[in-house]
Amino acid sequence: MTLKEFYAEIKDCQKCSLGRSRTKLVFGAGNEKADIVFVGEAPGYYEDQQGEPFVGAAGKLLTELLGKIGLKRSDVYIANILKCRPPENRDPSREEVEACKGHLFKQIEIIKPKVVCTLGNSATQTILDKRVPITKVKAKATQVRDFLVFPLYHPAAALHQGWMREPLEEDFQKLKEFLDSGVRPKPLPALREAEQLDLF
Ligand code: URA
Repeated sequence: MTLKEFYAEIKDCQKCSLGRSRTKLVFGAGNEKADIVFVGEAPGYYEDQQGEPFVGAAGKLLTELLGKIGLKRSDVYIANILKCRPPENRDPSREEVEACKGHLFKQIEIIKPKVVCTLGNSATQTILDKRVPITKVKAKATQVRDFLVFPLYHPAAALHQGWMREPLEEDFQKLKEFLDSGVRPKPLPALREAEQLDLF
């Protein structure tokens, strides 16, 4: 399946109540063959209006941070945990995350990136499936399924709390070093593969 085909499948999604309040579903944007996927929390006002992720102030900062490590938006894929904007930009509810996260996992399955950079607590905890504070895991890679997760502060948080800007820039440099080191996700354990073979 391609991303386009998957978009056609979910564009009218009504799995949660945000389907009724959204202006546009924000599917994701960028390179279908990217090695790196960036995952934010949920669309904000401008994203909801335009149907594109990270087009507001946080998006401008994300574009700038990518540029500083030699990446363009078109080199990577950008998406969110939620495809639709929560009213007044409130935090996503557990039900909304549960209803929506399968869409993101499907996109990741189609893209097959090596690295997924989660932006902020919400995306990090959802992808790691663990209630761990971002401060503990940021800029450290962990393997989940068949990709590596590299958490980063959310650019919007750095806009609101100025002190975060410097560590965020430093962590983007660490991401560059990590990518340049050529580290790859490990194939899923041989044992599990054997077990899967046994099953079939
Ligand atoms: N913040 C997010 O988490 N996602 C967006 O798309 C925009 C802002």
